[in-house]
Amino acid sequence: MFIANWKMNGSQSMLLDWLKGVDKTLDKSLQKNCLLCPPVCFLSEASNLISKSNLNISLGAQNIDPNCFSSLTGGIDGAMLKSFGSEFVIIGHSERREVFKEKDSLLLEKLKSASKNELKVIFCIGESLKDKQENQTEKVLKQQLQIIKKVDLNEFMIAYEPIWAIGSGETANIDYIDKVHRGIIDEVSSYQKEGFKGVSYGGSVDSTSSKDILSIKGVKGLLIGGASLQYQEFCNIVLSNH
Ligand code: PGA
Repeated sequence: MFIANWKMNGSQSMLLDWLKGVDKTLDKSLQKNCLLCPPVCFLSEASNLISKSNLNISLGAQNIDPNCFSSLTGGIDGAMLKSFGSEFVIIGHSERREVFKEKDSLLLEKLKSASKNELKVIFCIGESLKDKQENQTEKVLKQQLQIIKKVDLNEFMIAYEPIWAIGSGETANIDYIDKVHRGIIDEVSSYQKEGFKGVSYGGSVDSTSSKDILSIKGVKGLLIGGASLQYQEFCNIVLSNH
């Protein structure tokens, strides 16, 4: 799975060009592995364009609000995301954890909302540079994974994104990714969750690093931020898998 996380970027014209470009560059069997997560305001338009042009790309949201409150100003719940054409949702991205101060208790409510609305979840975890330097990576990641035990998810993927690698131009080295992914797979497998679809890597991935990262056995996909904004670079990453 190749996940294009546009973050707070994009416009209607960029969306149109991007979808056209991906359709021109990737055949339908490769499109099948692509998931576009644009800002929520473009989801509906993206969904219309995808069905109109018969593309084989999936859509996901970058965030979800819990539906534990009856009504919440500014909130967008899982049912709304589904109605916009979203099949997936990203939960627990480090930018949401750090900048928006999202704690485990809130992330759990978000997971429940996704579960209730049968959205497939990309659950992000990652260690800070300080955690890494203090050899705390394994402990920190295990801790972040705990809330997965508390909710029944139909289908979910873990996205491992070292915080120090996000947007920094520095990807983790292959041995490190391999070791960490194996640890995450062992941990989540011990929860005996049928919906677990594997672990993706994210953090400054581009078409020069993607092939080596994808060659790691435990890497089942890539979560791509900056490099996903240009359709050509995104397609180069997808094509580097072959
Ligand atoms: P990046 O972002 O590829 O720009 O580092 C990845 C992410 O944060 O999902």
